[in-house]
Amino acid sequence: MNRLVTRQMIADSGCSSYLIGSGKEFVLVDPLIDVERFMKSVQLDGGKIIGVFDTHVHADHFSGSREIQKLAGCPIYMHESSPVKFPFTRLEEKQYNMAGLKIQVLHTPGHAPEHVSLLVEDRVVLTGDTLLVRDVGRVDLGRGDANQLYDSLFSKLLKLPDNVEVFPGHVGKAHFVAGDTSSTIGAERRTNPALQSKAREDFIQYMTEGWPPKPAHYEQYIKVNCGLTEVGEAQFQRA
Ligand SMILES: [Fe+2]
Repeated sequence: MNRLVTRQMIADSGCSSYLIGSGKEFVLVDPLIDVERFMKSVQLDGGKIIGVFDTHVHADHFSGSREIQKLAGCPIYMHESSPVKFPFTRLEEKQYNMAGLKIQVLHTPGHAPEHVSLLVEDRVVLTGDTLLVRDVGRVDLGRGDANQLYDSLFSKLLKLPDNVEVFPGHVGKAHFVAGDTSSTIGAERRTNPALQSKAREDFIQYMTEGWPPKPAHYEQYIKVNCGLTEVGEAQFQRA
């Protein structure tokens, strides 16, 4: 079994980024735009970032992936169905070996069509905005699909063993979710309200109600993160 280092870096906004590695090489998942802290975090230990993943096109913050690519000279990885307009390395649903780790890519659409979750060494799963602690990813930001989310949760993530640790893309009050920074598949199976009824129709009904306010400017974040507009050119009117 490989050594596994999972460094969770949570911004004040509750957005979580992750550095994962087994030695001096790391992959970075869902970086925010203030990328210096990720570079410093690996450089302090004499390490380097060899790849950067976006689990999906984010709708509530600017992705730092293209900045990391410039600074670290590494590829950007996204699911092959990603709509972004800049060059990236297309992920398929299969196992990759990177940074001395087995990384199984799971295509988990629902919150967004191109969403991937990353199962690392069969011990840790980075679930992005598909599965949160005691919540699931919203489907009301224009690109979501409750039917697909149902399959991603019940046919993929909940097929994992109970002891797999869950690290989500968002935590805490700012995102109207629990403050816990991680969970396990077993705990979510038992306690996550969205997962308690296993019937598809019930789940889809559950997903139509009770959403918090949409993130401000979410359409602008999507445009910038797709490479359609530069950060400085985004029009930030009230969402
Ligand atoms: Fe998201």
